[in-house]
Amino acid sequence: MPKKVILIAAVTIDGYIARHSLEITRWSKDLHVFKKQTMGHPLIMGFNTNKTLSSHLKGRRVIIVQRNDDPVNVLKSIKEDICFIAGGGKTYHRFYPFVTHLYITPHPYVFGSGVPLFSGSGMKELKTKFLKLLEIDKENGIFQYQYEVLGS
Ligand SMILES: NC(=O)c1ccc[n+]([C@@H]2O[C@H](COP(=O)([O-])OP(=O)(O)OC[C@H]3O[C@@H](n4cnc5c(N)ncnc54)[C@H](OP(=O)(O)O)[C@@H]3O)[C@@H](O)[C@H]2O)c1
Repeated sequence: MPKKVILIAAVTIDGYIARHSLEITRWSKDLHVFKKQTMGHPLIMGFNTNKTLSSHLKGRRVIIVQRNDDPVNVLKSIKEDICFIAGGGKTYHRFYPFVTHLYITPHPYVFGSGVPLFSGSGMKELKTKFLKLLEIDKENGIFQYQYEVLGS
């Protein structure tokens, strides 16, 4: 089980990560940061999100999770100290009890509807501690907020 399980996501002002399940997130401005931060680390990615990718993510082992995969078994199979949860909403929701850090980049959009950051029911409140603010695109007000998850 990795020591750090980092959820990384670009979100709209109203908390969505996509307009629909098969949307390619072209609106995200933090892909260069995503690449840098995830390089060399395993990525856990949902079945739908994988379908939206146009090319292979170089330098990273991508573990595609489907509806029957048990999050505990998936995490136990990872021997590295750090892994990333790379979405989408259903996958963030299924793995949220194991997340140790949140890297969240709000974007200046309001979708009104779509795929929420955590797509699922019965989620518990998480306590977090702010760690760091990373500049992505200052002119357009885009920053990545990094938090540690203290527990639920
Ligand atoms: N903004 C961001 O940072 C960001 C990051 C990642 C992804 N996204 C976007 O999020 C969207 C996808 O999110 P999502 O919540 O829909 O999905 P997801 O978390 O990527 O995929 C998870 C789900 O795929 C389902 N699934 C669909 N077809 C399946 C099949 N044939 N066999 C097994 N499992 C299957 C599973 O089951 P069930 O349906 O049965 O639960 C599984 O739980 C995309 O538009 C993607 O671009 C955005």
